[in-house]
Amino acid sequence: MKLIVAGATGLVGSEIIRQCLQMSEITQIIALARKPVLIEDGTDPTSELTSVVIRDYGEYSDDTRAEFAGADACIWTVAVTPFRTGSFDFAEVKRVCQDCTLAGFKAMYEAGPTRPFRFLYFSADGTPRDPSKKPAIMGDYQVMRCETELMVLHLPAEYPGVEVCIAQPGVVVNSTSVSRAVVASLFRVVNTFTRSIPNIHRAELSAAVLDLAVKGFDKETVTNTELVCRGQAALKYTAESKN
Ligand SMILES: NC(=O)c1ccc[n+]([C@@H]2O[C@H](COP(=O)([O-])OP(=O)(O)OC[C@H]3O[C@@H](n4cnc5c(N)ncnc54)[C@H](OP(=O)(O)O)[C@@H]3O)[C@@H](O)[C@H]2O)c1
Repeated sequence: MKLIVAGATGLVGSEIIRQCLQMSEITQIIALARKPVLIEDGTDPTSELTSVVIRDYGEYSDDTRAEFAGADACIWTVAVTPFRTGSFDFAEVKRVCQDCTLAGFKAMYEAGPTRPFRFLYFSADGTPRDPSKKPAIMGDYQVMRCETELMVLHLPAEYPGVEVCIAQPGVVVNSTSVSRAVVASLFRVVNTFTRSIPNIHRAELSAAVLDLAVKGFDKETVTNTELVCRGQAALKYTAESKN
């Protein structure tokens, strides 16, 4: 299958790229990012990976659109995450999170994907589904992410042949540095006693969304708990297949 990974240099996007290079089901990867995608061990991208560099996730040249043609699925990870919102005015945060999602989707759809075309959109745990229910913390941001989810859920009605899925992970933990590994371990300990802070390891999350993109969506919204289960099962299957 041909998979587009949008936001391929991000925290989650880079792990998705690392994993999909090892999946036999994925034969073509379009890594869409604002800078060239290099594989983590520093080797050049293999022939199945095409690094497509764009200046802005809201603008797609004819060359970029041509790379999208015939795609089976897209995993869209692009967003300004809550911790980074302080660096931008809200209009820009909304543009990146919402307008660019629609612009990217339209460019892929207009390029002529296969049918069904699976579009998996990254949201976050705790995002309200009702825009009139504004949360007390980061209310405007949360409502904007809610409205983006609703926009994505509406796409199949307007664009025939499209299937959508919303992933709602909790805090993404990872072990790419010592400090991050410590935080990841802390979450593991806390999680042994309570699920009060929903979280997921970057590898589990990436495995889960790749599994959904390859096998198809069985529901429109996938919760953090479901992503953890699916991701762990997919990673276990991969490890067993290698032995
Ligand atoms: N990290 C978490 O703990 C967490 C938890 C729950 C949900 N999520 C969701 O999961 C998705 C991926 O998160 P992540 O942690 O991988 O995020 P990330 O690394 O901060 O960013 C994801 C992508 O968005 C792009 N991006 C960020 N700010 C941008 C801006 N101002 N203009 C244009 N592009 C921008 C980044 O491009 P560059 O690589 O070029 O910077 C990157 O490719 C997001 O939707 C996020 O809300 C994350």
